[in-house]
Amino acid sequence: MDVLKPNQLTQEGDLVQLVSPTNKVYLFRLISGEQLHTHRGVVNFDDLIQIPWGSQVFSHQGSPFYIIQPSLSDILRETKRSTQILYPKDIGFILITMGIGPGSLVLEAGTGSGALTTALAWAVGPQGHIYSYEVRAEMQNLARKNLDKLGLLDRVTLKLRDIAEGFDEEGIDALFLDLPDPYEYMPQVRRALKSGGAFGSILPTTNQVSRLLNAFHPNGFGFIDVCEIMLRYYKANPDRLRPADRMVAHTGYLIFARSILPAHDASQ
Ligand SMILES: C[S@@+](CC[C@H](N)C(=O)[O-])C[C@H]1O[C@@H](n2cnc3c(N)ncnc32)[C@H](O)[C@@H]1O
Repeated sequence: MDVLKPNQLTQEGDLVQLVSPTNKVYLFRLISGEQLHTHRGVVNFDDLIQIPWGSQVFSHQGSPFYIIQPSLSDILRETKRSTQILYPKDIGFILITMGIGPGSLVLEAGTGSGALTTALAWAVGPQGHIYSYEVRAEMQNLARKNLDKLGLLDRVTLKLRDIAEGFDEEGIDALFLDLPDPYEYMPQVRRALKSGGAFGSILPTTNQVSRLLNAFHPNGFGFIDVCEIMLRYYKANPDRLRPADRMVAHTGYLIFARSILPAHDASQ
């Protein structure tokens, strides 16, 4: 099943979102015969199949909703979570910086609620693959459910393991760590990544970033970048255009590096 189809009309099996007048979002797959029960009334899925995306539809009580094809960002926002998840603003930059695209082989830890896993699986397409490690079974189960609901589970191998024990894979294109102590695992990361492969991590404090920076050189990493992404929304009123009053001011620092070979290895 395709996750995002470029059809003009909604099809049975599509992932859709219904948006209420108060911007409450309902994300689900269109299955003929099923219904959505909301406090604004019942919506029959049969009424939502084979209609143009962007249409206004009505519950049995006459409440209006718009039917919108969910973007990856919409999908991530609706991820069921019991950990801190990565934000779309960070994920977008991670994908392009680490060169993750169709056909990539990507490794990540920890899986957590699977928000990044979802984005990675979406980005690598059916030809790529994600290996995702997690130490807590309950987190892995939640991520599995989230991925299954989106039809992305076949692009992901979920592994239940403390990454201190190392990874099974080698020759990986890109490896991302979203856990508190990535600096403890750089030898394992180095072994899994292909030479020249991309490493990335996100950390909430500068103290952790410093520890990671110190671990790069001894473990064969170079081309290091540290940054943070600040995203400020505006109130979209053309006559009073100004920033929103609140913003998510800090999610984490992003750290990127490349696996490099010492001179004597490179000449072999
Ligand atoms: C912040 S969450 C990851 C969130 C995830 N990136 C997302 O977007 O949903 C961190 C996860 O790392 C896991 N973790 C921490 N240390 C680990 C280790 N040594 N090996 C494997 N998983 C670990 C935790 O159990 C937790 O679920």
